[in-house]
Amino acid sequence: VKSVLVTGAAGFIGSHLCEYYLRHGYQVVGLDNYLTGSLDNIEYLQQHYKSDFFFIELDVSKPWPYIENFHIQNLKYVFHFASAASVKNYQKYALETMWVNSTGLSNAIRFADDHKARLIFASTSEVYGTPLSSPQKESDWGNVNSFGARSCYDESKRFGEALIYTSNKAHDTSHGVLRIFNTYGPRMNPDDDRVVNSFISLAKATQDLVVYGNGKQTRSFCFIDDLINGISLYANSELNQPVNLGNDSEISILELAELVIKMTESHSKIVFKPLPKDDPPQRRPDLSIARTLLGYAPSVSLSDGLKKFIGTK
Ligand SMILES: NC(=O)c1ccc[n+]([C@@H]2O[C@H](COP(=O)([O-])OP(=O)(O)OC[C@H]3O[C@@H](n4cnc5c(N)ncnc54)[C@H](O)[C@@H]3O)[C@@H](O)[C@H]2O)c1
Repeated sequence: VKSVLVTGAAGFIGSHLCEYYLRHGYQVVGLDNYLTGSLDNIEYLQQHYKSDFFFIELDVSKPWPYIENFHIQNLKYVFHFASAASVKNYQKYALETMWVNSTGLSNAIRFADDHKARLIFASTSEVYGTPLSSPQKESDWGNVNSFGARSCYDESKRFGEALIYTSNKAHDTSHGVLRIFNTYGPRMNPDDDRVVNSFISLAKATQDLVVYGNGKQTRSFCFIDDLINGISLYANSELNQPVNLGNDSEISILELAELVIKMTESHSKIVFKPLPKDDPPQRRPDLSIARTLLGYAPSVSLSDGLKKFIGTK
């Protein structure tokens, strides 16, 4: 039997990753301290994959004591996905976010190296900061503020990427980096304030949908199934360079608000508030590398993904 280890297993993406590998016959070890995730996200896995899913409550930024002794057979991948991910959560847990993407990542790399496994680090489109061009290409170095409200997240992810690069050179390993763009779907943290999630909740409760600025800033949204497919293609490849993953069709925040109201048949109104600091005007991945080197092709349209997501809420 092959196995994988997932940090952030009780989170949105982490729980879907666990499920994907369990379905494909792997044993899965999940680690999480429930900082922004929840037991609800993994209860189903614990019930349905009793003998193949092992969950350990652990702050992965602290030393991994008993995990070191935990018997893991044939460990193929370590997915380091633990980290607060939304603006609201990483500002609330700013220091924790810096540690999990540095010390936590370092622990995960050491564990992967000890088991001769390949590690995949969840980086983010936020490493591009306020983009100077669009769509964002992996070769863009970023326009990032190192001393501000978003820097705990942006800069710790950038440090994480540098740590992977440096540690690969030092130890002759091939750990990889994925730059994930906005992803949505079932099991997102309901209090997260991430735009798709909060628009659906507000529309269902017939409350006002808050749009910041004039709503013309654009985003691209990827359905979780497409992302998981991309992560598994990358894990299975030999690549270790950062690769963008997401969906490259673009929609303005105002259009998204209108679409959600229509799809939930809501009577909510749209209200406008001032744009928060450092809110990027545009965020869209250039997926050429993922398409050509991985054969990645996001296939779930926004309206189909929203339909599936709304159905589970
Ligand atoms: N969702 C997105 O659109 C998106 C976009 C870009 C990058 N990412 C990255 O993907 C990863 C997962 O994001 P998500 O959307 O699933 O967020 P999430 O908040 O749902 O999941 C993160 C999980 O990590 C856990 N965690 C945090 N710190 C921990 C620690 N010290 N020890 C153990 N567990 C810890 C949390 O409890 C949570 O379960 C993150 O690294 C995030 O930066 C996500």
